[in-house]
Amino acid sequence: MLKKLTVVVFLFSSCVAVLGADEDMSKWLRPSEVPQPKNNKLTPERIELGKLLYFDVRLSKDDTISCATCHHPQHGWTDEVPTSKAVGYDGRVGPRNSPVILNAAYQRHQFWDGRARSLEQQATGPMSADVEMNMPLEELIPKLNKIQGYVALFEKAYPGEGLTKETLAKAVASFERTVLSTESPFDKYARGDKNAISEDAKEGFALFKGKAHCIDCHDGWNFTDGSFQNIGLNDGELQGKELGRYNVKNRGAWYGVFKTPTLRDVTKSYPYFHDGSVKTLEEATVICASGGRYENGVRNKSDAMKDRKLTHEEVAKVVEFMKSLTGPDIDLKIPTKFPQ
Ligand code: HEC
Ligand code: HEC
Repeated sequence: MLKKLTVVVFLFSSCVAVLGADEDMSKWLRPSEVPQPKNNKLTPERIELGKLLYFDVRLSKDDTISCATCHHPQHGWTDEVPTSKAVGYDGRVGPRNSPVILNAAYQRHQFWDGRARSLEQQATGPMSADVEMNMPLEELIPKLNKIQGYVALFEKAYPGEGLTKETLAKAVASFERTVLSTESPFDKYARGDKNAISEDAKEGFALFKGKAHCIDCHDGWNFTDGSFQNIGLNDGELQGKELGRYNVKNRGAWYGVFKTPTLRDVTKSYPYFHDGSVKTLEEATVICASGGRYENGVRNKSDAMKDRKLTHEEVAKVVEFMKSLTGPDIDLKIPTKFPQ
């Protein structure tokens, strides 16, 4: 009997010791290794070529639109169009808000509904989409093959593989793998500089992990667990028009769910949500902390979407914390001369 009691006491005290210890902050820091597929390892030639393609408007039908039109480094890798939806070829408006490219290299799924599994798979989609660059690949590949400068650069980057839709996708993906978040005040804090963020931001971080339950979905160094969730942005009628991941496969659990986005550099990526319906972080926080925009009539709302009863002050602190996730812009020279 006595023995048992000692064991219990011992276990109890060791738990207390773990809880009392400083939190392990390493999970909040970006891993230095960037995931790369075996058949497309990063090289300086591939990255440089991908960068030219990314900024080259000749990838679109009428030479007006590049990837950067909608995912521009100066706009936090998104577009900041005043309308909530992406505007592409000939002013055509797409159905969704442009997401950030930042840290896309680490994502298991691309697009709000996760319909692409890799950056390579994703890259050629916008080129041919009629609301984006409207350039069918059957026309684009011959068009690029007429530009001798590109043919030579593809040969250097992918010797013997030619300028094909595969190498085109690989080169663009290589550049995207260099679009990574930089050291934000929060990262400095996580590395031990206790003064790198304000007291309000520290309290916001505690709320984010605790009372506000943001961490239920925005977990880990990239502030997303990669999950798909229905946060109750739309109610019945609207939901019927924007089915989210259900478009990829008609599974009940996928009805109206969208990918949980990163919150890194989130101050730069407004408007927010897949429909770009929200302009401020305050409003986004209120929606996420109060069980969604619609309380009732939402089909398949996530169980983690509950009213967390935050006060105005608490919302402001969570916002302060999110602001600390913004780092300096990537050091990047936007190309002004393109291969001829
Ligand atoms: C007309 C605007 C527009 C153009 C041009 C455009 N995109 Fe996008 N991009 C979007 C929109 C909108 C989405 C989200 C679509 C969705 O989820 O259904 C998106 C999604 C993405 C994603 C997925 C990001 C994520 O977090 O899921 C990547 C990566 C991407 N685009 C890269 C590119 C590349 C590379 C190019 C050039 C070849 C490009 N885009 C051209 C608007 C654009
Ligand atoms: C149930 C999972 C879940 C929880 C809990 C959650 N979020 Fe989200 N969050 C999402 C998803 C999914 C989206 C994208 C939804 C969409 O566009 O349809 C999102 C979007 C956002 C955005 C917009 C980002 C952008 O680039 O568009 C912000 C900001 C945000 N959440 C902050 C928070 C905060 C702060 C909390 C805690 C109060 C929180 N979230 C709680 C899943 C969640």
